Amino acid sequence: MTALGENFHAIQKHVGSGVTICAVVKADGYGHGAIECAQALESEGAKWLGVTDAAGGLALRAAGVKARILLMTGIWKGEEDGIVGQNLTPTIWEPWHIETLERAARKRQSVLPVHLKLDTGMNRLGAAPEAWPRLCEMLAGSKQLSLEGVSTHFASAEVLDSADAAWQAKRFEEGLAMLWSHGLRPTLVHMGNSAAMTARPDTWKTMVRPGIALYGYSLAFTRGGEPAAVAELPLRPVLSWKTRVLTVKEVAAGEAVGYMGTFVTKARSRIAVLPVGYADGYPRLLSNRARVIVGGEYAPVVGRVSMDLTIVDVSHVSGVAVGDEVILIGASAGKGMDKSGDKKVDAVELARWCESVPYEILCGISQRVPRVYS
Ligand SMILES: Cc1ncc(COP(=O)(O)O)c(C=O)c1O
Repeated sequence: MTALGENFHAIQKHVGSGVTICAVVKADGYGHGAIECAQALESEGAKWLGVTDAAGGLALRAAGVKARILLMTGIWKGEEDGIVGQNLTPTIWEPWHIETLERAARKRQSVLPVHLKLDTGMNRLGAAPEAWPRLCEMLAGSKQLSLEGVSTHFASAEVLDSADAAWQAKRFEEGLAMLWSHGLRPTLVHMGNSAAMTARPDTWKTMVRPGIALYGYSLAFTRGGEPAAVAELPLRPVLSWKTRVLTVKEVAAGEAVGYMGTFVTKARSRIAVLPVGYADGYPRLLSNRARVIVGGEYAPVVGRVSMDLTIVDVSHVSGVAVGDEVILIGASAGKGMDKSGDKKVDAVELARWCESVPYEILCGISQRVPRVYS
């Protein structure tokens, strides 16, 4: 089974069979390939997939994906016929969403399941509390839409000692009570992303929407930025990013390397040039900061990462030659059960150098990097 499948089953075991997983494959499956991930997840039993928008949902349908597809980021006018026709499930929160979809469903004489999003404090998407009564009335009176789900999204679920997740959860309960009072009984009640799925069982309700955890990353820390102890889920990174040595050269001591000469050799050095750069999504902020694995050893990135090329210092690694494999994200080969060695570079480490998050590193791997599935 693939790492993606294993992660999916680990999550299902963690939340229990009573909680439905909406496996988030938006942003091209966090850079892993939405269609391939969706198909793999479907074959592992995933009943729900989460994508950004109708375009993402239609692409999965065109590839033959049959699972239910939640459009998590709203709709545009003009997409309603495709949504109804392809059995996509929109997240809604504005009166015009309801009116537009109602008309489209009536035209097809069908009933469209929708999920209502409540803004409980993140102040991004979703209906603010003052809008809840009107939306409840509209949905209660709708003939063509059935309120299958209700959701919210946490602003900082991964910050375990933050007060706002608890506060948002309380607001959400108030929203649920309002739905109930209008006779609306959505069966899929969902709040949690990966962090909430990992660390906040009280938020699971009947569905969770993990993304990053499926791809093997589990994030939880305290307000101070310290890693927090949470239930250990046996997740493993799905993606490795590898390249090959393009050329190797000797450079004398005191030589400047790369654009702007931001790295100067202290001694005679051997450097390897890699055919990967920021056009591939290897961020320029990794210049003089990140490390790669080559010949089973770490090798530091020296000089500026450029559009197509990155330079690493391999003076301490014996026998590095043109064509040798270089690991940008992943683990050195080992002998253990999982075949991974003691050297690892993951998307969290790269993100730290860029003052970013692993999401951005993974999603940022550009389309010109071929994806190989095994
Ligand atoms: C509404 C919503 N739900 C779930 C997720 C998945 O989040 P994560 O990847 O942290 O699990 C996202 C991702 O941004 C999201 O926007």
